[in-house]
Order: sequence, then C-alpha cells, then structure tokens
Amino acid sequence: MVDTVRVSTTDGVATVVIDNPPVNALGADLRRDLMTALRDAEADASVQVIVLAAAGRTWPAGADIREFGQPPRDPWLPEVCSAVAACPKPVIVAMHGNALGGGLELALAAHVRLADPGTRLGLPEVTLGILPGAGGTQRLPRLIGARAALGMMTSGLPIPAERALELGLIDAVTEGEARLAAQRLAAAHIAGEASLPSAAERPDHRMDASDWLAAVTEARKGLGVSRLPAPPRIIDCVEAALLLPEEEGFAYERTAFEELVSTPEAAALRHAFLAERRAARHPELAATKPREIAEIGVIGGGLMGSGIATACLAAGYRVTMIERDDQALTAGLARVATNRDRAVAKGQLSVADRETEWSRMSGATAMSALAGADLVIEAAFEDEGVKTAIFAELDGVVKPGAVLATNTSYLDVNRIAAATSRPGDVIGLHFFSPAQVMKLLEVVVAERTSPDVTATAFALAKRLGKVAVRAGVCDGFIGNRVLTAYRTATDFLLEDGASPYQIDRAMVGWGFPLGPYQVLDMAGLDISWARRTRLAEHRDPSERYVAIGDRLCKLGRLGQKAGRGYYLYAEGARTGTEDPEVLEVIAAERTAKGIEPRRITEAEIQRRALAAMANEGARILEEKIAARPSDIDLVMLTGYGFPRWRGGPMQMADQVGLLELRDTLRDYAREEETFWRPAALWDELIKNGRKFADLNAD
Ligand code: CAA
Repeated sequence: MVDTVRVSTTDGVATVVIDNPPVNALGADLRRDLMTALRDAEADASVQVIVLAAAGRTWPAGADIREFGQPPRDPWLPEVCSAVAACPKPVIVAMHGNALGGGLELALAAHVRLADPGTRLGLPEVTLGILPGAGGTQRLPRLIGARAALGMMTSGLPIPAERALELGLIDAVTEGEARLAAQRLAAAHIAGEASLPSAAERPDHRMDASDWLAAVTEARKGLGVSRLPAPPRIIDCVEAALLLPEEEGFAYERTAFEELVSTPEAAALRHAFLAERRAARHPELAATKPREIAEIGVIGGGLMGSGIATACLAAGYRVTMIERDDQALTAGLARVATNRDRAVAKGQLSVADRETEWSRMSGATAMSALAGADLVIEAAFEDEGVKTAIFAELDGVVKPGAVLATNTSYLDVNRIAAATSRPGDVIGLHFFSPAQVMKLLEVVVAERTSPDVTATAFALAKRLGKVAVRAGVCDGFIGNRVLTAYRTATDFLLEDGASPYQIDRAMVGWGFPLGPYQVLDMAGLDISWARRTRLAEHRDPSERYVAIGDRLCKLGRLGQKAGRGYYLYAEGARTGTEDPEVLEVIAAERTAKGIEPRRITEAEIQRRALAAMANEGARILEEKIAARPSDIDLVMLTGYGFPRWRGGPMQMADQVGLLELRDTLRDYAREEETFWRPAALWDELIKNGRKFADLNAD
C-alpha cells in the first residue's frame, strides 16, 4: 500500500499534504488515504482546523487518467467531497499549479479556498464528454452564479487565480506559497485573531432565481446545433441546482454523469485525450536527449513559411527568414508582422512584448545568414528539384550539428536527405496551414534520421504548443494519405450519382466543419491537380481514375481564389453557391464512361468515407508509417477536421465493428478491387478477436 498523503499536526492545525506524483491525480489510493486523513483529523480532539495542500508541481489536476474506462473503486470522489463538505472542523485548501476537474471539485467542497498567483482553475470535463460529477455542477453556480459557472463548465477552459478571486471562486490569492498562507490563517483563526469566511457571509446566488433561470435559458439557446450530449446535461444540472433540494441536486448530477460516461462520444473524447498523451511516447525518444535549439532559420516567406516563422517567434526562438529577393522577403516579413499584430489585437500579446519579440526576427536573401542556425526549416515550393537544390546549398553553409528540416507534404524525405552530406540531421516537419494556428505537426522520420534529431522535433513541437505525430516516409505520410483515400471514395460517388453538394452536406452532417469539396475550393484545386499530374506516369491504367477535378481545373475553376471551383463565389465571398455548370461537367464524365447515375444516400456517403479512411489507416499501420492506430486518429483530429467526438477513423472502425467494416470493404471491392481491397490487418485482428485499440499499447 502506498501512502499518498502526509499529515502533520501543530498547535491545533492538521496539515494534510497530498503527494501523488506527477500531478496528484485523484486515483483510488489517494481517495482512500484522503478519507482516512480526514476521519483521523476529525476524531483528533487536538485538531481545530484542517489545511489541505499538495506537494510537488500542482494541486490535484483531476481524476487519474489511468482509471478512465475502468470499473469505479471505493471511495468515489463525490464521497470524498461530501466528507470534506460535512467536516465539522473548517477545511482550508491551499492550491497551486493546476486545480482541474475533480481537483477543483474537491476544493469547492472545502470551507475556505486559497490559491497562489500562478494557479489555473478549471472544469475541463466537457472536453471529455462528461460533466463535473463530484458536486461541481451544484457547488460552483451557488458560489459564483449560474452564468459564470456555465461559462466555465461548458467551455472547459481554465481561468487564472486572479479571475477566480473576482468571481468569488476563491477567497484569496496568496502572497507566496499558498500552504504557508493557509497555515497562518488557520493559526490566526485559532488564536481568535482572524475569522474564516463563513457560508452565511458568501453571496447565495440562488436568491436571484430569475437571473439564474435567464442564464440557463441563454445557455440552452447558445448550444445551437451541437450534437454533443454533455453541454445540455451540464445546463440541466445547473438548473437542478436551483430548483431541487441540495441532496436531490447531487443525485441528479450523479445520474447525468453516469449516463454521459458511457456514451460513444465520451469514449471517443477519452480516446482523443489519451491519444494526445501517447503520441510522444516512442522508445527511441526515451533513450535520447534533444539538441539545443535557440535560433531557427525558415526558408520561404509564403503563407506556410511566414506561418512557421510566426509560430517559432511566438514560442521565444530567434528566427531568420530567407527569401530569394528583397521584395519577397519584405512581403514575407510583413506577413509575420501582421500575424503578430493580430495576436496583439486579440489581447494575446502586449504592445511592449510585441516590440521585444520583433527584435528576435530578421531576414536575409542569402543562405549564408543561416550559418548560426540550430534548426533550419525549409518551406519552399513543393518540388523535389527545388528542395534538393536548397538542401545541397544548406549543407555548405549551416554549422555541424544543426537540424535540417523540410516542410514537404508529400515528397520523399530520404531523397531530400541524400542531397546533403549529413542525412542523419535531416527530418521532415510537416506543418499545417495556417502554421501559427494549426495544432498538428507530422514529424517525418527518414531512414537515416538520428534519434536525437527526432527527439529535437518532438521537443520543438512541445514548445510550439503543437501535437507531434511520428510518421514514416511515403507519399503523403499519414494525413495526406488518409485524405487522398477519403477524396478518392467521394470522387467515385460523384461519378456514380452523388453531387458535390450532397457529399459536402453528408460529411458536414457527420461532424466535419467543411465537406471535401468545400475544402478543395478553399485550398485551391490546382494543388491536388499538380500532384495527380506528377503521379500520372506511375498510375496503374486498370485503376479507376476520376477526372472531374482535372476537368474543372482545365476550365479555370481553381476554387475560391478564382471565384469558382466546385462552387460559385461572389466577389470576396468565402462560402459558395451550387453551380449547374459543375453538374454538367460531372454528367458529361458519367456519359463518357457509360456510368448510369444511381441514387446515393447520405448514410452511404458517410459509410464509404469512413471505410476508405480506416482501410488506408490499416495499410499505413501495416507499412509501419504510423506507430499506432491512435496516432492516425490524432492526425485526422488535429489536422483534418475529423470530429473529435467521433475519435478518428480507427476508433470509429472499432466502434462500428471490424468484421462489419471488413465485409463492407469486401462488398465495395467487387466494384473496384485495387482501391477497396481490405488491408490484411483486418483479417489478422478479426482472427485474434482484437481491435485497432489493442495495438495502441500504452
Ligand atoms: N492522471 C494521471 N496522470 C496524469 C494526469 C492525470 N489526470 N495528467 C497528467 N498526467 C501525467 C502525464 O501523463 C505525464 O506523465 P508522463 O510524464 O509519465 O508522461 C505527467 O503527468 C506530466 O504531464 P504533462 O507532461 O502534461 O505536464 P504539464 O506540466 O505540461 O501539464 C497538466 C500538467 C496541465 C496537469 C496536464 O498534464 C493536464 O492537462 N492533465 C490533464 C488534466 C485533466 O484533464 N484531468 C482530468 C480532468 S476531468 C476529471 O477530473 C473528471 C472526473 O473527476 C471524473
């Protein structure tokens, strides 16, 4: 048995210190030890006040994620919280670090709450598809009002200690360590020199029932068309906190929590949460240390290069941008400046910090300016010749030990690395546009990339606030391969009888923010056209090829930027309208191929899209391009708009059932063998009674 709390009693103050590294998560052992410590302090006649604090980096940051999806073990957190609330002796909590989820609920049950200035407090349960189930939905609105409580619980976003004080969520922001301040307050209380805030003195927001109900009504209206089950249930619970007697309110919350925890949405969100934590775990990374990076060179000042430079600058690096001439450089630097001005306008950056930051930004038109760079990220035109020439030149300029990265989205990183005398230093860093915003970074590890270079890429991603996913070298890595399969499946449907508008509606209805043809219009149809042209000579002539996209490009329909693509765009408009000319192009293609259009339902569109993505994911796993299924899911969730509450294609395949989806693929393969043939991995898993999730091995 491990003791996860330490208790010391001095002059009537029992200090209970939670010590359950790394983040004092409220696992079963800790819950049990807390209960024991509380009962002992209650029974000890010499104890008059209990101080509850935490050792290490943080106050409990929530439930123990290792217990997610496991059968609950006694005592439950609601029982611990009730015991704190019912304690006849005052309990003062002293928070620091992150008071999140169950951790904040524990504090809400106490009589007095103190926090040090760096504390962040939040209830992120909604992001896991659940609600605060240990009294949070009942206690928080009473303490800070329904409106503010709903804001915190439906967004899941944490707030700083100073804001928590303004809201009345805590009683004081301490100067220095919260634990010492709590002990001083307890001692002063015992000595009769200070009184603790009593429940009677706190504002009871229930007194203003009409405002409370108005906040509930507004929150319900604000939900819009969201199909997530947790937010409406959080609102119901806050309403119950006003309308029901206390105990019934807690029971209502409990029922709602149990209902949510077993929904597929909560399972998918838990999966996404765990996938994020798992992605950085690779044996090679555990054994190596990243290289030191202070100065970064970015080659290219276009949309991607300037986005990457912005992200690096914002993360505190010195950045040098390289462009081919002064004009392009000025334009590139101006893009970075505009991005940072936007951060100032949004209140994310002060004007003074903006100025200091800019002193770390420079630009040049000669590669020699990169002589001192620790990392160079090439974001030039997507063409192998262009990129290999740049890498050959870099080889002669950059200091030994610098990491050389290419931001290619499809090209062969092994060949790019071979253009240098130091392939071990070369890696792919596939950013997503806009790079200062998008969370995903595909780390493409080439055959000869050294492990410390991979470790450096993961450390960089962490500092940039991005999710790094390891990928192997192939055409399109993880994300663009799955995307290509998705588009191929929907292109087949276009020829077979669906319209692009119907397909987009079906996929938006399924949870994507945009349909595949809306995305193509936004990105520009010429990008994928260029790629198809590049691959044309290697294409198997027996493979089904849909030329509708090529036809549209030849008509100058290159997407939003041309005012027309799959949709028609009014001057400057970002959403388009349906265009009969596109339907004519599609109809002509069908006629040319002798295809009789058939009726296609939304359900079929969604099913084929999922089957195509999951099957490509299975191939990617077989080829070891991705280390695990959850990495594929993570790429799709963070880089391609796959709905997080569906967990990603591999998680969805598990949910639908591998046997069922494999049979569906077999049916489709009768129409088109090459594309739809199920990867061998399906059979291997099915035969052994396993799922994709079983390959995620933590
Ligand atoms: N349970 C168990 N382990 C956890 C954990 C948790 N809740 N949160 C983090 N850890 C572990 C991480 O896995 C990591 O372990 P390794 O070093 O072995 O990889 C270690 O703690 C450090 O984590 P980070 O690298 O993320 O540390 P950080 O300092 O960058 O961030 C943090 C700290 C802000 C607390 C961050 O870890 C975090 O956001 N954690 C999750 C918090 C959360 O969402 N908790 C659940 C709330 S919901 C809830 O509580 C529901 C309920 O009651 C039923």
